[in-house]
Amino acid sequence: MKAGAALKKAKGLAAFFTGPQDVVGVDIGSYALKIAQFGQESGQLALKSWGYVELKPKPDASPEEKKAYTINELRAFLIKKGIRVKETATALSGNSVIVRYVKFPRLTKSELTATLATEAEPFIPFDINEVQLGFHILAELVEEGQKKMETVLVAAKRDLISARLDVLQGAGLTPTIIDVDSFALENVYERLQGPKPELGATLYLNIGHMVTNLSILESGVTRVVRDIFISGNTLTKAIMKAFQMDQAKAEEAKRSYGIIVDPAEKEKALQEGQREALGVSQAITGVVKDLVAEVHRSVDFYLSQGPERSIGRIVLMGGTARLRNLSKHLAGELKVPVSVLDPFSFLKTSVDVPADLTPAFGVAAGLALRRNRDWA
Ligand SMILES: Nc1ncnc2c1ncn2[C@@H]1O[C@H](COP(=O)(O)OP(=O)(O)OP(=O)(O)O)[C@@H](O)[C@H]1O
Ligand SMILES: [Mg+2]
Repeated sequence: MKAGAALKKAKGLAAFFTGPQDVVGVDIGSYALKIAQFGQESGQLALKSWGYVELKPKPDASPEEKKAYTINELRAFLIKKGIRVKETATALSGNSVIVRYVKFPRLTKSELTATLATEAEPFIPFDINEVQLGFHILAELVEEGQKKMETVLVAAKRDLISARLDVLQGAGLTPTIIDVDSFALENVYERLQGPKPELGATLYLNIGHMVTNLSILESGVTRVVRDIFISGNTLTKAIMKAFQMDQAKAEEAKRSYGIIVDPAEKEKALQEGQREALGVSQAITGVVKDLVAEVHRSVDFYLSQGPERSIGRIVLMGGTARLRNLSKHLAGELKVPVSVLDPFSFLKTSVDVPADLTPAFGVAAGLALRRNRDWA
């Protein structure tokens, strides 16, 4: 058989086994890999596979060693779960990704594609030759007599992209979609939001390990995206410092004590001399105060952009969303209802992801839904 024919046959087989729509969502976090894959079960959308793989490379590992370690963990997971789908959607965030809302003179999509680098350069704080650019047209408008279009511009450093591609390809996957963490969440939002109109915008806080992705969605469209470098690791570090504890102990203390919000609980802790619980809560609230200040900044920015804007609710996700009493504490500080996301709650089929892990799957679920939009 000629190579071409063999390839065709292999592709046909792959499509037969996996279905042409299948895609695996892989969220590569600094603390854990989150993997999600949806599929049809008796005519219903179901979570076919999922994985939460904690990454624990040696503390002194070089970036190359860390990469090799992540590839091995991902590959081992795919083999263990028997995941055959290769097509993968992934997402980026952090320091090497820039999202800007820019009004350009009205051009056709192909005109903008052709001139993107020149048009985008003034808005991108990196060397334009070192980034991959993407854009999405949000709306067309007329401003001061000029026809314009509102676009979301995304620039990601090429070295970050190629590092991600190396991990996925190294594990035998075929990356087909690269998104931004916060934008991937739009797909989950869309599924969860019923037909009822919302009261004000939704503020998403994906509080992970190294970064918190903040986004504000208005009727499902992301209007503000920001990454804040206060997250789970900042909390652990604050506890380590306050108690001269090692990382593992501080991590344990963070998870077991969380925040004391209830005045009666606080009083009891004081009377019983629970120094550690009180100290941990204090260290955490100190860090959360800084996060709240950043949230206020973004909310003020959003509210200043147009009349009749309001934030109706805050939805937490990411591993740190499970921090004891965090949602209660934030609701008190920000004076808005706060809930914790279950990105699988739209499924009619049962899901066996433990409740304490589900909020960490926001991005992975959003990515896995990318190609399943027409499946409902
Ligand atoms: N029950 C819990 N209470 C408090 N924190 C928790 C709990 N469970 C997990 N975490 C924290 O959640 C964080 C990991 O969350 P997540 O998996 O969302 O991070 P990540 O996506 O890998 O990181 P990033 O996107 O920031 O690189 C860790 O800092 C961990 O300590
Ligand atoms: Mg993350």
